[in-house]
Formats: sequence, structure tokens, C-alpha cells
Amino acid sequence: MSQHIQTKRISAPDISARKGAEPIVCLTAYTAPMAEILDPHCDLLLVGDSVGMVVHGLPTTVGVTMDMMILHGQAVMRTARRAMVVVDMPFGSYEAGAETAYANAARIMKETGCQAVKVESGPEVARTVEYMVRRGIPVMGHIGLRPQAVNVDGGFRAKGRNETERERVIAEAKATDDAGAFCIVVEGVAEELAAEVTGAVHAPTIGIGASAACDGQILVTDDMLGLFDWTPKFVRRYADLRRHVGDAIATYAADVRARRFPASAETYAFKKKA
Ligand code: KIV
Repeated sequence: MSQHIQTKRISAPDISARKGAEPIVCLTAYTAPMAEILDPHCDLLLVGDSVGMVVHGLPTTVGVTMDMMILHGQAVMRTARRAMVVVDMPFGSYEAGAETAYANAARIMKETGCQAVKVESGPEVARTVEYMVRRGIPVMGHIGLRPQAVNVDGGFRAKGRNETERERVIAEAKATDDAGAFCIVVEGVAEELAAEVTGAVHAPTIGIGASAACDGQILVTDDMLGLFDWTPKFVRRYADLRRHVGDAIATYAADVRARRFPASAETYAFKKKA
């Protein structure tokens, strides 16, 4: 890994100040080498609880633990120098009450060195968000499609496509904004609603499957790099790494079987006596 010159890191107020200005560039990161690659290009790196599905093969994010988030947060913080780093609070770590949420968020920040936490938010956790913000923990909200609610919703599906759901998403946005979140992820909502939410809140909105009407964008890095054979409609694939990795591994396997690898240049020899 390369040596870094210390640069000033982007902060929560810097992100908040970007409302309506240059779009905020965000991606997920779970490992030190990937964070090092993403850092020069991104304003914000999210250690998302999607790590449970993307890296650990879990069916949903519900099984993700505090220890998993802390381990991946520490890895990302070892190489991210410039981008703000936000770590997701896992399911069950903040919903029961403000004091428990504060203790868990403080643990995440102390043990990883990250600058903020993210919670799936709405009127139910508004007091918790406010409690944390007032005590020094910057909070990123997450509204619309909330993956940790998958068991209540019966699956992952876009939100706000009828009047009742539209009102619900607006209520989530306003409650999160009033509670003091420094920015709000808006996931899986139609463009009209994303524009309405963005116009209704002070905090910048970060869209994922929520159109270009938001103040910034985030994607799961592994999705946009094409590491899976299926990606949601809203993901643009910027690379086809699954195919490239598959091709590389097939070539390696063929070389090993044909004794083409390792060659003499890749092999140690006895040192000649002086
Ligand atoms: O966990 C995650 O990666 C997220 C993003 C998709 C916003 O919450």
C-alpha cells in the first residue's frame, strides 16, 4: 500500500453545506484496499451493513452484528484519508432507545475512528437521532426502502408509489431532518417523490435508486463493479469484474494444471557462493 500525505478529511458540516450545490459522491467500502482505491474520488465512504450480504453471504442485513461493522469500519479507516467515513448501525443496535443507541454509536466511533453513523430513520427513531446529534454524534438518515425492515415489508421493493406510502416517506424525511441528520439516504423511490423530499428538507439527500433529483448519489461498490450476475434496475455497471475475475482464475487454473505456473522468473533459486 502506498504512503499518504495527510490531507484534511471531509466533515459532516462540509457534506451538509453541499445542499443544492455540486453533487455529493458516495460509495460503499468494506475493506482497506478498496477504501484506498475509492478515497481520492469520493466525498463520503459508507461502511454499509450491506457488507453482510455482499461479503458475508447473508440473505438480508438483519443478521449483521456490531462486531462485524466495527471490524470493517476499522479496515476502511486504515486507508481512507480524505473522504468522510460513515459506519452503519446494525439492526437491533439503535431501535430500542436513545441511550442504547448512543452507547453503541459511541463504541463504533471510538473503536473505528469514523466520523458518523447511519441509521434507518423515521418518526419512530427521531428522538434517538436528536439525542445522538445533540451529544456529538453526526447521524446520516436512511429513508424510503429500508433494508432492515425487510421482514415487515415482505421483501425489498421500491417505496412511495401510492399516496399512503408517499406520505410515509415524506414523514420519514421530515422527522429525520428535524432531528438533525447531516444528510439523508433516500432509497428506492420514484423521481417525483425524490424531488419532493429533496425540496422539503434542509439536509442534502443522497439517492440510491432515487433519480438524479437528489443532492448526491450512492451505490454499493460491488454492484457497480459488476461483481454479481444480477443487479437492481437502478445500478449502472461501470465494470464487469465478475467476468474478468472468472477469466483470470480460469487462466491460472489452466497454467497450474499444465505446469506453466510458476515459471523460473517466479521461482527462488539457491544463492551462488561468493
Ligand atoms: O448498507 C448499505 O450499503 C446502504 C446503502 C445501500 C445506502 O445502506
